[in-house]
Amino acid sequence: MSDRAPRWPGAPAAGDSDRPLRVPLATRRATIQLAQALAPILSPSDLVILEGCLGAGKTFFVRALGRALGVPPSERIASPTFALVHELSARALRIAHADLYRLADSSELDQLGLRELRDQGALLLVEWGAPHESALGGDACRVTLELHPARAACVTGSGSGSWGLIARLDEALRAGRIRRGLRPPAAVGA
Ligand SMILES: Nc1ncnc2c1ncn2[C@@H]1O[C@H](COP(=O)(O)OP(=O)(O)OP(=O)(O)O)[C@@H](O)[C@H]1O
Ligand SMILES: [Mg+2]
Repeated sequence: MSDRAPRWPGAPAAGDSDRPLRVPLATRRATIQLAQALAPILSPSDLVILEGCLGAGKTFFVRALGRALGVPPSERIASPTFALVHELSARALRIAHADLYRLADSSELDQLGLRELRDQGALLLVEWGAPHESALGGDACRVTLELHPARAACVTGSGSGSWGLIARLDEALRAGRIRRGLRPPAAVGA
């Protein structure tokens, strides 16, 4: 097996850092594993945008990511559909989880203060954020969750920082680092 060969069933097929990564997500466990691979690569002020149709698993992914980042089980990670933004705390990291599906216009986005939170070092995890990417400061890691023809994630970047992040994610998946510290899906909770 060459160094570049996938070492786990969900490893992405593409190897180049400037190409989207495609990760099959046949099970919820696979989604949790992807979140666990991404978590240690994220830094304060990063922007992760979750795309995909209703029910594609965006909130599920954010929940898995939050837990992998250290949000305690006592803190609920749920869809911020009505509040639009929930702030979470994970060790020293500030996290803002937003769902912009119901955002009426970009002036409402200003009122949410997400850009300011990012500037202050918060990691932004934004469902339905793609139309607002530049207003949020750009350079986003986009995770698009697909249901058809089978569940999969397509991970792309939109700037030098986010492409660097995706290159590291690719490396982590290929190295099988996600095997460490796996927790059963039940640990993700609500
Ligand atoms: N890889 C997977 N395999 C099977 N089921 C999954 C997988 N990932 C997530 N799910 C399930 O998909 C369901 C929908 O999840 P979720 O609420 O996260 O969707 P969403 O994309 O956030 O929806 P919305 O657009 O309404 O915010 C959840 O019940 C979750 O358990
Ligand atoms: Mg959701």
